[in-house]
Amino acid sequence: MEDGSPGARFSAPYEIAVVRPLRQTTAEQREVALKAAYYNTELLPQEMIYVDLKTDSGVSSISTPQLSTLMGFGPLESGMEMAAEGNRAFTMLGESFRQIFGFSHMVPVSQGRAAERVWTKIHVKPDTLVPGNMLFPSTRMHIESSGAQVVDVISEAAHDLYSDEPFKGNVDLDKLEAVFKEHGRERVSCVYVELCVNSCGGHPVSLGNLKEVKKIAAAHEVPVFLDACRILENSYLIQQREEGYGRRSIQEIVRETCSLSDGCTMSALKDFLVPVGGIIAMRDGASYQKAYFQSFFNGSQPPSTAMDAMRIALQEVFAGDAYVASRVAQVNYLWRRLKGDIPILKPSGGHGVFIDAKSFLPQLADDHHRAEALAAFVYRVSGIRLTKGPPLAPSQTKRGTQLLRLAVPARRYLQAHLDDVAEVILDAYAHRDEIKGLKRIEKPGRSKYDPALFEQV
Ligand code: F0G
Repeated sequence: MEDGSPGARFSAPYEIAVVRPLRQTTAEQREVALKAAYYNTELLPQEMIYVDLKTDSGVSSISTPQLSTLMGFGPLESGMEMAAEGNRAFTMLGESFRQIFGFSHMVPVSQGRAAERVWTKIHVKPDTLVPGNMLFPSTRMHIESSGAQVVDVISEAAHDLYSDEPFKGNVDLDKLEAVFKEHGRERVSCVYVELCVNSCGGHPVSLGNLKEVKKIAAAHEVPVFLDACRILENSYLIQQREEGYGRRSIQEIVRETCSLSDGCTMSALKDFLVPVGGIIAMRDGASYQKAYFQSFFNGSQPPSTAMDAMRIALQEVFAGDAYVASRVAQVNYLWRRLKGDIPILKPSGGHGVFIDAKSFLPQLADDHHRAEALAAFVYRVSGIRLTKGPPLAPSQTKRGTQLLRLAVPARRYLQAHLDDVAEVILDAYAHRDEIKGLKRIEKPGRSKYDPALFEQV
């Protein structure tokens, strides 16, 4: 990454300070582990995993300043002290957050889904609609449990797995207008826009699109909320791909993105590099008070150390553009290693590479769980863990889409790890005829909440 001064490169603006040794396993040991996990790679024990691409959430490496914050406090002696610490951390995080994002109020919470629970409870009324761009399952679930219905208004491009359209996360403005026209603005609680849409490949939303969404919503006097957990990656892809933003800083793009919304919910476990934490941000004092009390009653406040870790992460990621550039460049590196040879979604997304499992394993029957079968095969030969990723949105299931996500945790893996991943995927593709399908095992007494168990076909 060039910073403008002659000869200066900052490809990775951090170095390794602490490492976690990884166990080298044998194929026989992995076969045993896979059988014990009923071919569900989600259920593999962590010590049996080499590179883990299950998620990018809560698994990024923490920095030395974050580590010293997390370890810096001895046991707090009394509830009074804990409250005082919480207060201090809340005030300091609030100051940093407001400066960076431009919202006047914020409520820190323990996770993204806690933010959604509080926020939708306040802003989503029963029997209303929430148009959104393929919202994450937890967002959808919280909206629906408030008695409303989500209407998927993502652009059709999101379903075209191989086109090069740069902003496949965009809202389809005609679909959005149609919701207002058909149902009237009284039936719409808010418009929810997810940035770098996870479910369809980590594809970004353009600022041009967000401006139009805001215009339409404002004309109907309906608020626009963001799911901003990947706002950093979204901003970087805007800088790289949207006309007129190539010379704008990430900080400026983040600010402009937030200025087009009335509030946001955010998991800090992704772009903001912490294992615990989330934020609700808003502009009006009344919503702030409600969210503050709702979060208090839900018990979803984060500990002071988590708030400090979030504040430090904000300083680190906004110190310049080098961090986010290196983060997305790593995802892009894996994507480029596979592009052309493997059926992967185009273009490259912000947080992971997504395999089109249907095209990878066309010989398997639709009910033989292509994504899980490929993940099981990859694990057996390499120890690398892949999992399906977020459950598909109804609009994807309807189209028969089947994806396998390679989520890249931030600051965690070296290029050598990603090379191993690429080699294994290329090798699996060369041997795809040997990959066996899986079928679900049903056992009496199991509920829909139990994890899926499989056997080989
Ligand atoms: N929104 C998006 C877009 C997400 O990807 C997630 C979580 C959440 C909200 C919920 O945040 O986990 O802090 O409660 N995504 C994780 C993943 C689980 O692996 O993609 P959370």
